[in-house]
Amino acid sequence: MAGGPSLAHDSDALAADYERLSASRQFETGKRLAAALAVGAGERVLDVGCGTGLLAEHIAERVGSTGHVLGIDPLPLRIEVAQARVKKEGTHANLAFAVGDANDLGALPAAGFDAVILNAVFHWLPDKPRALGQFAHVLRPGGRIGISTRPPNAAGGARHPVYEAMARAMAEPPFNRYPRPRGSFVSQVDADEMRALFEAAGFAPTLIEVSPSVQVHATPEAAVRFSEASSFGNLLAHLPAELRPAARDAMAARLAALMTPDGIVQQGLRLVAIGTRR
Ligand SMILES: C[S@@+](CC[C@H](N)C(=O)[O-])C[C@H]1O[C@@H](n2cnc3c(N)ncnc32)[C@H](O)[C@@H]1O
Repeated sequence: MAGGPSLAHDSDALAADYERLSASRQFETGKRLAAALAVGAGERVLDVGCGTGLLAEHIAERVGSTGHVLGIDPLPLRIEVAQARVKKEGTHANLAFAVGDANDLGALPAAGFDAVILNAVFHWLPDKPRALGQFAHVLRPGGRIGISTRPPNAAGGARHPVYEAMARAMAEPPFNRYPRPRGSFVSQVDADEMRALFEAAGFAPTLIEVSPSVQVHATPEAAVRFSEASSFGNLLAHLPAELRPAARDAMAARLAALMTPDGIVQQGLRLVAIGTRR
């Protein structure tokens, strides 16, 4: 089993950028996922990999004062951003955040949640059977899981032009002296793999759907920054720190070829999976 992304490369700046940049992207897919999961009044919801917590806050509004939301994330800096924002707003007595990892939810009560939600997180989890086992443990029988994630590109595994441009930049010297270790970035699953994972973990799939998704980056630099913040620093973590500024420039130079009058339009896919714990 590959080790997965590192949790050691986040920073205050990346966490702050993520909160700002995700507001018009991941937050939007998250709200749609919460609606598809039919999160309702009075429910106890666990938001796994909550990041800076915008979605958890939205879900707290959906469940109301009789419900409860716990947002967990292994990155302490992102949890700090979430806690600081909620404290400043002075609302949401039904919302809490804590540092926590999908691979070990043993500190949470068994069958203590009605729904578990993962928005833009599942592709960051290297050991999916283990994580799904943890989610099954904290969900009550009949509880629901909702996942919105990035599947592999449909076209025979070919990379999307944005990722291709970034990879080409890293294939040039001096960056190619430091290849990214295999398995240290995303691990994506397609619809069939998701269905099989659900079944093996004791979830009855109620929706497994792949649909197009579009992201627009205003500039090449914005595309790089978005990728760095969303990957909590893993985009360039395999390079020595002193090479990272040049790597950002090299990626941006390649991405410039993809600029249109509307910016860089990144067409991709989104996999939404909803299941019920048997
Ligand atoms: C792209 S962000 C998504 C954040 C948030 N769910 C949202 O919708 O904005 C990916 C998140 O997955 C989290 N993550 C990575 N590995 C994780 C793990 N093992 N357990 C839980 N969360 C994890 C990261 O810390 C990061 O906050």
